[in-house]
Amino acid sequence: MINQIQNIEKEISNYHINDSADVEKFRIYFLGSKGLIKGLYNLLREVPNEQKKEFGQRINQLRALAEVKLSTYKSSSPQDAQIVNEEDLSRPVGEDNLGSHHPLTIIKRGIIDIFNNIGFSVSEGPEIEDDWHNFSALNFPPEHPARDMQDTFFIQKGDEEIALRTHTSSVQVRIMEKNQPPIRTISPGRVYRNEAISARAHCFFHQVEGLYIDEGVSFADLKQTLLYFAKEMFGEKAEIRLRPSYFPFTEPSAEVDVSCTICGSKGCNVCKYTGWLEILGCGMVDPNVLDASGIDSKKYSGFAFGMGIERIAQLKFKVNDLRIYSENDTRFLNQFKSAL
Ligand code: PHE
Repeated sequence: MINQIQNIEKEISNYHINDSADVEKFRIYFLGSKGLIKGLYNLLREVPNEQKKEFGQRINQLRALAEVKLSTYKSSSPQDAQIVNEEDLSRPVGEDNLGSHHPLTIIKRGIIDIFNNIGFSVSEGPEIEDDWHNFSALNFPPEHPARDMQDTFFIQKGDEEIALRTHTSSVQVRIMEKNQPPIRTISPGRVYRNEAISARAHCFFHQVEGLYIDEGVSFADLKQTLLYFAKEMFGEKAEIRLRPSYFPFTEPSAEVDVSCTICGSKGCNVCKYTGWLEILGCGMVDPNVLDASGIDSKKYSGFAFGMGIERIAQLKFKVNDLRIYSENDTRFLNQFKSAL
């Protein structure tokens, strides 16, 4: 028996494997249910009891030798290597690993699409602003209490006090300074306000503000544009209503409500049983603002509006806590895969 074992050992070592067909032949020949090693185990029955242990161990070693050789060739035969490669390249990505856009990105892109379709371009500007672009050019006189409407983060830079922009109206000032009408642009971006963080307020949020300046732009144009936006964003049945309001940079000014899409205006806890939801501020650009940026207010008129992206997202996705948007909780973010 010992001779048999030694012969098989040699045979295993000298066995030539070229391709995966050889690998399978090798497996059947040595390790198959009718293979040589199986035959040795059968012979073990006839070995005297006191030698069983020793022979058993020798056969086990032989089997291990064959298995090692088999596994080496299995993973390195050229054909198999190709299969592994093909698998890597063509394997569909598991659904669990798919990322998703952030809900605020989804809404921002939605808003941009809607206004792109009616000729608005997109403009962006710095988040760190000077007093002129965030306030003075927008008709906030120095020390005017209206500055308190927007609790501002100030940064001391040498003698100069600079601010984190409180709205993207600052971008619109920059556009007006560099361009003459017709101007038709929206400015999406992050804005900052010094507010205590709660479910309803945050120290930063995102806005899209719009500006349209040309000869003869009227309040009717503003209303029609916003109605178009509301229907595109909230559905054909959406209605809007305007309530008089105040902003230093627009006159007249209004706040805009959209009919509650959640209860169909019947009254629910989201619209506080009024049937209406506030979505944005707007108005006709104050002539002082046009003149401050070098646009002739006798020739041109315009409208402006500004909305919070979080607010629109809150209404579209029924998310009532503002803080969740910036907590990076994948349980929240994963829910927006289908909203791409
Ligand atoms: N800038 C205003 C805000 O941040 C919104 C607004 C924009 C209002 C344009 C009227 C016109 O609240």
